[in-house]
Formats: sequence, structure tokens, C-alpha cells
Amino acid sequence: ANRVPSHQHRPLVHFSPSKNWINDPNGLVFYDGEWHLFYQHNPHTPMSVNMHWGHSVSEDLIAWTELPIAIEPEDDVVGIWSGSVVIDWKNTTGFQKNMSTHPMIAIYTWQKQRWQEQHMAYSLDRGRTWTKYSSNPIIPMYNNVSAADRLSDQVVRRPFRDPKVFYHILTSSWILVLTGGDHVQFYRSSDLIHWSLMSRFGLTDGSHGGTWECPDLIEFPQRTLKNRTSLWVLLVSVQRNAPAGGSGMQYFIGTFDGNEFHNIQPPETINWLDYGPDFYAGITFHNIPGYDRRQILISWMSNWQYANSLPTAPLWRGQMTIPRQLQLDLNSYTNRYHLRQTPVQELIRYSKRLITYYHEKLSNMVLNMSRDVYMFNIELHKITKATTIHLKFRENSDKSEYTQVSYIGEKNQIELDRSRSGLTDFYSSYPVQFNMNLDRETLITGRLQLQLIIDRCSIELFVNEGKYTMTSLIFPKDSGYQIDISVDGHEIFINYLELMLFSL
Ligand code: FRU
Repeated sequence: ANRVPSHQHRPLVHFSPSKNWINDPNGLVFYDGEWHLFYQHNPHTPMSVNMHWGHSVSEDLIAWTELPIAIEPEDDVVGIWSGSVVIDWKNTTGFQKNMSTHPMIAIYTWQKQRWQEQHMAYSLDRGRTWTKYSSNPIIPMYNNVSAADRLSDQVVRRPFRDPKVFYHILTSSWILVLTGGDHVQFYRSSDLIHWSLMSRFGLTDGSHGGTWECPDLIEFPQRTLKNRTSLWVLLVSVQRNAPAGGSGMQYFIGTFDGNEFHNIQPPETINWLDYGPDFYAGITFHNIPGYDRRQILISWMSNWQYANSLPTAPLWRGQMTIPRQLQLDLNSYTNRYHLRQTPVQELIRYSKRLITYYHEKLSNMVLNMSRDVYMFNIELHKITKATTIHLKFRENSDKSEYTQVSYIGEKNQIELDRSRSGLTDFYSSYPVQFNMNLDRETLITGRLQLQLIIDRCSIELFVNEGKYTMTSLIFPKDSGYQIDISVDGHEIFINYLELMLFSL
């Protein structure tokens, strides 16, 4: 949501910057009634250089208000790269001066000519103004390298970035996870300032198709297991060779004792979080309120392959996904743990039900919407191997432009095709089709449930209550508003179909 000039592609219920460039979400934190969204931001041009931390706040995760830049680089060759924010409730840093607000502590990567180290800044006024810690770095790249040598070409530079911090209750300590490029490293501290390296994970686990970035470690208490242990999910963004091409996110499931992460799946297992092309660098919020212990993730809705070529410039480049609640389920059809993702319930407050169908035979139809920001929900019955369903969104009147979502029973596969979605020629492998295989649930039960959020330049698809998701940018040229449904094979029934319009 943006109080910014409207444009044909400007998202309504998704965050985009009023001007210029954004990439990763940073420092996601809830404090004193506000959700904070910081982000990688170049406030001067729509290109990914000269990184700052931009800042927006929201009372409900959907309507965002942009605030002034939070953290600026010292000069134009320094970058303030990705990192996280925590609330120092017990004043372990000693930065707190008055009792009315707690320090917000930002820990981020300071980058200069590929040299990367971890720095700290703090805010004593609810994130409005930030002071850099006077003894940065708090985690140097190599302990034994002098300041003068840091910028010399003699030193090998490896990725060493994207610190994500959380409080670990069992060991009463702060834990920090960062990426070393082809693995992650876990650090521990009692005061957020002095950190010790505890362990590394991942050299031989999961996908290594590209540089590892933006790790996050999340706890899921398992009430059903004996002695109420937790399972932990380690999110890792992989810069290249994800299933839809280019950047994507993988995750590991395991245990964490405050020192080490143990993968409970075979090391060659690869779990992808989203099968679309535009879902990257996602991290979760710190200090989420409520007893239900929601875990909420926001990702950057783009892909490093073409992020710098997106056609919304010169106005802006980059937007965030809808905040998603994450749940860890044991999938009874694969017998594996699996992350389920659903849009946060706060989104529903901005929607109004437009039409609903119940218990009808599904037949070919065109719904004329005259709107381009809505949610489309459908639950179908009697799906078999012979089923083929095509749903075209943002279709124009002569049917030459659309984005197609299909279910192909024969392959038990969801396909998303954006080859005719409008502006596509800014990158060669942008106008293609993406596929995602489903588990056996749909063919065993005959039930398929799809939830789509269409927001001008994007489509977010959640399948079977969020078991599988696919996220994609689209840039329609025409103002096509039709939803065109066609079905093939045999009789299928609609359990329900509903359209919800969004307005802010
Ligand atoms: C991920 C990333 C991070 C880095 C930031 C720089 O998209 O490459 O690893 O900190 O972007 O903007």
C-alpha cells in the first residue's frame, strides 16, 4: 500500500517504494504497535548501487507509510547491505538512556569493494533516527587482517554478509546467522556486541546452484512431540539456478541447540519455498505480538536476473510480497515436514466480497472484472488425471494478452505462463512458463484449491491451503480485466468460487 502517485503497474496491497530502487527486506520487527519494514534502497536512481536502508511503518502489515532513510552509507562506494533489527529489552548493549523506549538494534553488512563486515547501529526513538556504533565492525571479516589491508587486493574476498539475529530462550543468548557464500555461520552473544563463532552448516547440504544469501533461522514449537521440543527451519536464498531460473529460496528442517543446526533430512534434499520466478531474500519478523506465535515472512518480489531491467523505471523498481504466515506441517502424502504459506489475515480487512458461486458444474466462462486488484479463490472437486483447467487473468478483450495459470491432471502439475502477459522483452528468459509438481493429495482426494492475489503487476498463487506457492511479476500493456476459465476432459464441480475486491 502506498500513498504515492498511481500508475498502471503500481501495486496497491503490496509495498513498493515511491521512487527508485529497492531489493531485500531488512530489519523486520514489531515494536510498540508498529510493524517496521526496512529495505535495501537506492534513493537516487532505480539501480542496485549505493545501498541505504529505507524505512516504512505500518499498523497492519498492509498499509505502509514511508519514513526518511534510516541508515546511510558513509560515502558513495560504501553499501549498507542486508541485515536485521532486534529490540534490546534488557538493555544488554547499555545504549538505553531513558526508560520509556527500548533500544532498537540494527546489525547489517557494511560493504566496500567486496570487503564485507558486520556493523551495528541503534535507535532510541522507535526507529526514527539511527546512530552508528562507535566501535564497528562488531564482526570483522578476518580477525587477523589489519584495517589497511582490508581494501588491498591481496586479501581474498568471500561473501560474508546478511546477519539475522534472534533471541534464543533456552540458552538465554542472542544468536546471529550469516552467510559465508556456500554455507552459513552461527554466532552467539550475550550483549549483541561481542560475538563468538559457534558452528557452520551447509557445505554439503541442499542446493549450491548459486551464492547463498540472507539466511534466517525460525523456531516451530512441536506441541505433539514428547517433551515439547521444537523444529527449526533454516531459510537460505540461492542467487542462481532456482527452479524458475535465477534466484529463489530453499529451506532446511532440523534441530538447533543454541550452538549447531542439524538437518534432519538427507543432505541431498532440496526444499524450495516458492516455485515462481519472483520470490527472493525473504526473512521473518522479530518480536511478533500475540500468544499464537505467528511467523511472518516478507520477500522481495523480483529476481536478480532482470531486477535492474524491470519496466517500472524511471518511476521505481522493486516491490515486496504480501506478508505470509509460515506454518510447519507434516505432509501426510509425502511423509515429510513442509512449510505452508498463507497471506496474513490482516489482508482480508481490505477486501469486499464481490461474487460467490457454490456447488455448480465448472464450465467455460469469462468474468468481466473492470478491476485489477483482487483475490480469486476457487475450490474444485472431481479432479482426475484427465483434468485440464486453464485460468487466464488480466486478459484483454481481443484475448491476445493474459497470464495463464493451469492445472494439468496428467502431470499433476500447476503451470504459470507469462509469455503473453504484456511487456516481456526486457529480458530474454522472462516470457516463459513455470511448472510446479504437486503431491498426491489432489489426485487422491479429487480436490484442488487455488487462491490468487492479483495486484496490477503481480500474481501470487497459493495451492491447497498454501502447501505450494508460485509468485510472479507481470506487466500488462493493455488494461485487460477479464478472467477467462476453460476446462477440458470431463465434469468438474465448483465447491466455491469467490472474488474479493481490495481497496485501501
Ligand atoms: C540479496 C543480496 C544480499 C546483499 C544485498 C545487497 O539480494 O545480494 O546478499 O546483502 O542483496 O543489496
